[in-house]
Amino acid sequence: MNMSNIKNIAGAPDAVFQGRPFELSALVRDNIKNLAPYSTARHEFTGKASVLLDANENAYGSPLEDNFNRYPDPLQWQLKFAIAKIKGVPAENIFIGNGSDEVIDICYRVFCDPAKDNVIICPPTYGMYEVSGNINDVEIKKVNLTPDFQLDVPGILNAVDAHTKILFICSPNNPTGNNMNRADMEILLNNFPGIILIDEAYINFSKQKTFIQELTEYPNLVVMQTLSKAWGLAALRLGLCYASLDIIGLFNKVKPPYNINEASQQLALEALQHTEQVNSWIKEVVAQKSFLTGKLLKLSFVEKIYPSDANFILVKVKDAVSLYDYLAKNEIVVRNRSREIYCENCLRITIGTPEENAHLLKIIKAYD
Ligand SMILES: Cc1ncc(COP(=O)(O)O)c(C=O)c1O
Repeated sequence: MNMSNIKNIAGAPDAVFQGRPFELSALVRDNIKNLAPYSTARHEFTGKASVLLDANENAYGSPLEDNFNRYPDPLQWQLKFAIAKIKGVPAENIFIGNGSDEVIDICYRVFCDPAKDNVIICPPTYGMYEVSGNINDVEIKKVNLTPDFQLDVPGILNAVDAHTKILFICSPNNPTGNNMNRADMEILLNNFPGIILIDEAYINFSKQKTFIQELTEYPNLVVMQTLSKAWGLAALRLGLCYASLDIIGLFNKVKPPYNINEASQQLALEALQHTEQVNSWIKEVVAQKSFLTGKLLKLSFVEKIYPSDANFILVKVKDAVSLYDYLAKNEIVVRNRSREIYCENCLRITIGTPEENAHLLKIIKAYD
């Protein structure tokens, strides 16, 4: 691993920096290394096929107009080629999960031995890193963000032990909305001895550059994005993941054979042709975010709105529970994040359509 940035880390422990080169196989669970994956009927046959009698499907058809009687492509190549074209990353470096949550779970299952290994998360952050760890019986080490919601780099490196396998970084972060400093992430990529999963679910709204172009630079990097946010396809459950060929190979070994259904694959392929529509929504969301922020800041009970590079804002108010209840009574649902560290009395509000935002403002003004 490149150790050139070590001098930048104040107070980091020497013990972490053994200068050992990154070795993927040392991080992978033995049972996964030795796993013979399930081989689907469609994996095993590669020639030209005109009669498919290999998978016990209904050869007569399905009651639906589209042909859903055949199992889908287990590796979703058409969809991956379309994503590769948009993102400028080879299709072979892409893995698609049934939502990002499947990618998180697969990361745990590939790298972490239950009841033995641990991961590091940086609260306040996306809740599934912890829940998925708990489901997999993997210890969660928490190294809180700094009070200005940035990574505590020495704290993270101090928390590493021989069983630390994954560091989860969310940028832009949910629920705070800010980007992590890129230089801090680079220091960690150069020095953290395990896998770093950078969750870029909100990257389309961000001024920050994605890390998906850095896969050759950092063999320990896994980048996650999703079609659930800017792309407007939350119901299809499509989480995207970019990593080295070796890591993608491990994920493919562990995933359920047909984790992405045919309807989702087809509909996503169609949606990916509409980049202009998506880009114009992103612009509108960013404009609405600054409009809503300006209006909310004028209200007496709004104490602070944190700068956001995402499609939501974190709003600190005088009494979050009371405002949450008031909005709920008026059929407006926001997220109360008050129990998260540094988020006392904070509500997370997604940026809606101009009409929804105007309605929110009308209702919220009456609370004042
Ligand atoms: C940071 C972050 N990552 C991932 C997800 C989940 O994405 P998906 O719908 O792809 O499972 C969310 C959803 O809120 C999120 O905030």
